[in-house]
Amino acid sequence: MSEVKNDDEILSVSKLKKSFGSNTVLSEVDLKLKKGETVVILGRSGTGKSVILKCIIGLIFPDSGSIEIFGEDFLSIKQAEKSKLRIRIGFLFQSGALYDSMTVRQNLEFPIIRQPDYKKSDLSGKVEEMLENVGLVEAIDKMPSELSGGMQKRIGLARTLMLEPEIILYDEPTTGLDPVTSNEISHLILDMQKKLDVSSLIVTHDMQCAKLVSNRIVVLKDGKFAAEGTYEELEKSDDEFVRGFFKFE
Ligand SMILES: Nc1ncnc2c1ncn2[C@@H]1O[C@H](COP(=O)(O)OP(=O)(O)OP(=O)(O)O)[C@@H](O)[C@H]1O
Ligand SMILES: [Mg+2]
Repeated sequence: MSEVKNDDEILSVSKLKKSFGSNTVLSEVDLKLKKGETVVILGRSGTGKSVILKCIIGLIFPDSGSIEIFGEDFLSIKQAEKSKLRIRIGFLFQSGALYDSMTVRQNLEFPIIRQPDYKKSDLSGKVEEMLENVGLVEAIDKMPSELSGGMQKRIGLARTLMLEPEIILYDEPTTGLDPVTSNEISHLILDMQKKLDVSSLIVTHDMQCAKLVSNRIVVLKDGKFAAEGTYEELEKSDDEFVRGFFKFE
């Protein structure tokens, strides 16, 4: 995808540090995301990619550094303010994370019903609209266990879209899926970006997905981003470590 041309920065992570005991995972992470932009995060397994996303969503508290979201200082605002910001950010977990005991419809309703000011009347139409987005209206009354892994990911994405997030964080959206389904999910991510003008941060090992959806790619190494550029730039990087991610034949 081509470059996003605006200076509207909606997420800014700066000098983020996080250790678990003696295990320093993030030493100095800096990251910016503009409105409408899609940034892909690459990195070896266990290097802290999920930890970065969890810090941004407030599931993990970093040791130091700052996270600004929509111009607000996410780490120091009050809990109530944090919750308001959180609603504007969608998170697609590494595992589909659907509620097993709820139907697809109930899974999609759940994030909305939890909001204090939700209107019950709008809900049914909205559930159907979001399922249409991911091409799975027919699954509305099914249980997650009746769906394939790829379908569960698509339902997870539909649920994420229910709150109309302005930023979506995807943690390995295509992992564990066959190449055809992976490709479908990647195109779905691209469609959603175009249709809803969301900004996205995507952690993936799927280079086909990265090539299709990214405006920019960052590479995590030893607790910080060691390289940054477009797919085409990084593919030709002088750094062998960076180039290694692009060799998949
Ligand atoms: N809650 C936690 N408590 C202790 N250690 C943790 C916690 N969460 C993550 N870690 C550690 O942080 C490191 C990075 O984990 P993370 O899940 O972010 O890796 P990752 O880059 O997402 O890997 P993968 O590609 O396999 O998903 C690992 O060493 C992990 O053990
Ligand atoms: Mg991970």
